[in-house]
Amino acid sequence: MTGRIAGTGSYIPSQVLSNEDLSKIVDTSDQWIRERTGVLRRHIVKQDTTVSMAVKSAEAAILDAHINPEELDMIIVSTISSNLLMPCTACEVQKKIGAVNAACFDLNAACSGFLVAYSTVLGYIEMGIVKKALIIGSECMSKLLDWSDRSTCILFGDGAGAVVIEAADGEKGAVVLHSDGEKGNALCLETHGKITMNGQEVFRFAVSNVPKVIEELLHKMGKQREEIDAYILHQANQRILDAIAKRLGVDKKYFPSNIREYANTSSASIPILLDELKKNGDIDKGQQLILAGFGGGLTWGAAYIRI
Ligand code: UT7
Repeated sequence: MTGRIAGTGSYIPSQVLSNEDLSKIVDTSDQWIRERTGVLRRHIVKQDTTVSMAVKSAEAAILDAHINPEELDMIIVSTISSNLLMPCTACEVQKKIGAVNAACFDLNAACSGFLVAYSTVLGYIEMGIVKKALIIGSECMSKLLDWSDRSTCILFGDGAGAVVIEAADGEKGAVVLHSDGEKGNALCLETHGKITMNGQEVFRFAVSNVPKVIEELLHKMGKQREEIDAYILHQANQRILDAIAKRLGVDKKYFPSNIREYANTSSASIPILLDELKKNGDIDKGQQLILAGFGGGLTWGAAYIRI
């Protein structure tokens, strides 16, 4: 027994903040941001909240999976930016979509959160406790930024992505997760505070650890790098994606990216990208994917999934 992706959905707020717009707020330029990050613009909430974006992405994923909300046994929301601490965002989603039979909770593993949510659901499915689950990454990063700090405010954007996972026969999924609390200071967010980051340290951490965790996962699965149809990574910086591809010796074309449009949406970035690729026909049934995330904690990990 394993978990299969039955449907995906995403929601991006319509308000756009371009690099040009940012250059009027802080001492930066379109050229600097493009060259150092690959970001051209990001989308920022006006009326939406972490809850409302989670609900919209969830509705889209449920529609895509052709299921009724009552069929869901579990809803997990990964977020560091919930507008509500209690009730949790997952319970609010349950209420709004009518998923009356779902057990609901939120989890926080920063930008690795979607992977942790996926691995949690996979565990419940393999134990036979859950048959259909909804996992959501929803982030309102714009509320967590110090808009006078050019080293962080240019990097992030808002959005949500959701995936319905169903129990299915077949090859088991696999996940590898790691954390290093000793390095937590590299990326911090105090309660009611704003994000602070040592960008260079996080950059080095991602480029050195993500290839290793992908190798670890491939080894665990007995798979070769070339067998993987797409490496769907947390969208933090185009240079990080390119460096990871290079270290793995895999062509960049197998590392899809949408960072130019949305910037870093933390735990929403993987499900948003997954949804876009699926809707555009860039990934299809039967293909083998590796998802990999990294971020605050520090946390990082990778998951193998056949769609
Ligand atoms: O989800 C995980 C979250 N975080 C990340 O993934 C972040 C990982 N790190 C990064 O993406 C990169 O480190 C950054 C994009 C944050 C920074 O790029 P960098 O190439 O590491 O630049 P840097 O920090 O070494 O700064 C180079 C220069 C500095 O000026 P000096 O000291 O050389 O005069 C900075 O003050 O660029 C300056 N700088 C900027 N200049 C224009 C920093 N931010 C900006 C800016 N515009 N926005």
